[in-house]
Amino acid sequence: MTGLKDLLRTENLSRADVELILATAAEFAEHPLKHSNSLVHKSVAIYMTKPSTRTRLASETAVAHLGGTPIFLRGDELQIGRGETINDTAKVISQFCSALIIRTYAQSDVDQLGKYASIPVINALTDEDHPTQVLADWMVIRERFGSDVSGRKFVYVGDGNNVANAWLIIGAIMGAHVVAATPAGKFAISPEVISKSKSLAAASGGKVEITNDAKAAAEGASVIYTDVWMSMGDSESERDEKFKALSPFMVNDDLMKLTTKDSIFMHCLPAHRGEEVAASVIDGAKSVVWREAFHRRTTIQALLHLLTRGELKGN
Ligand code: CP
Ligand code: NVA
Repeated sequence: MTGLKDLLRTENLSRADVELILATAAEFAEHPLKHSNSLVHKSVAIYMTKPSTRTRLASETAVAHLGGTPIFLRGDELQIGRGETINDTAKVISQFCSALIIRTYAQSDVDQLGKYASIPVINALTDEDHPTQVLADWMVIRERFGSDVSGRKFVYVGDGNNVANAWLIIGAIMGAHVVAATPAGKFAISPEVISKSKSLAAASGGKVEITNDAKAAAEGASVIYTDVWMSMGDSESERDEKFKALSPFMVNDDLMKLTTKDSIFMHCLPAHRGEEVAASVIDGAKSVVWREAFHRRTTIQALLHLLTRGELKGN
C-alpha cells in the first residue's frame, strides 16, 4: 500500500489528509450510515491500557456504523501483559482484524505496533500525542469559523501535555496561528514538539507561539482550549507542585473576557471544574465541549473508512 498505513502521530498527517478526514467526517455527521458496508464482515480491535469514555464509545460506534464488529481489549486481557512481545501481538491481531485502535502510555509502543502490524494502527492517545482528539476539535473549528482561519488565534492554556502537543502540530499543519501558554520548566511543551510544530508552520504559512503568559495569549483569541492538569499516568507525587505551577493558567471568566466576541471554549474532556476551568466557562455560552465529544465518532469513523482503503497520503 502506498501512502499512509497508520495514524501513529498527528505529525504524520498532511493538510490534504486532514481536509479529506474533515470532509468525510462531515458526511458521517449528516449520514452516520453512509458507507455502512465499509467494514462489513470485518473486525476492528480496540486495545486500551488506560481508561476511556469518549474514545472507546466513539470507536465502537464508528466501527458499528461502518458495518463491522469492534473487539474491545483491556490491557490486562492480552498476553502482552505477561511478556508476549509487541511484535508478536501485532502480527496476531493483523490476522484477525482489519484495523487496530490503541490507547497506551509509550508512543514508542504505538510506533512499534504500526511497524509490525500489517493493518492500519490508529493512535487513540499516548503520553505524547492525541491525534484523533484534535481531528474532532478541527471539525468544530470548521463548523464555527469556516475554512479561512487567517487572522484568528487558537490558544491552548495549561499543562504542556499530549493534547497540547497535538494541538500545536495540527494547527501548524493547517496553516493556523496556534499558541501554547504553559508554565515554564517541567510542565512546558517539549523542545522537540516546539521545533516540529515550528517547521510544519514554516511550510504551511502558519505560526506557532509559545509563552508563559496566559493573559497575553488570550488577548484577541478565537479559541481557548484547555485540558486536565493531571493526565493519565502522571505521578501523584507531583500533584501539589503541578497545581501550584498551573494555578495562573485556570480558564475563568476574566480570561475569556480577553478573547474575541465570537470566541469559543474547547476542552477534550474529561474536565475538572474548579481546577483547569471554571464551571461558568465550561457550562457557559461559549463552550463547545459537547460538539467536540460528538465529533470523536465522526472523525474516527472517517479515519477507519479512509485508512482501510489506503486513501490517506501522509506527508
Ligand atoms: N477526550 C478523550 O480522549 O476522552 P476519553 O479519555 O474519555 O476517551
Ligand atoms: N491529557 C489527558 C487527556 C485525556 C483525554 C490525559 O492524557 O489523561
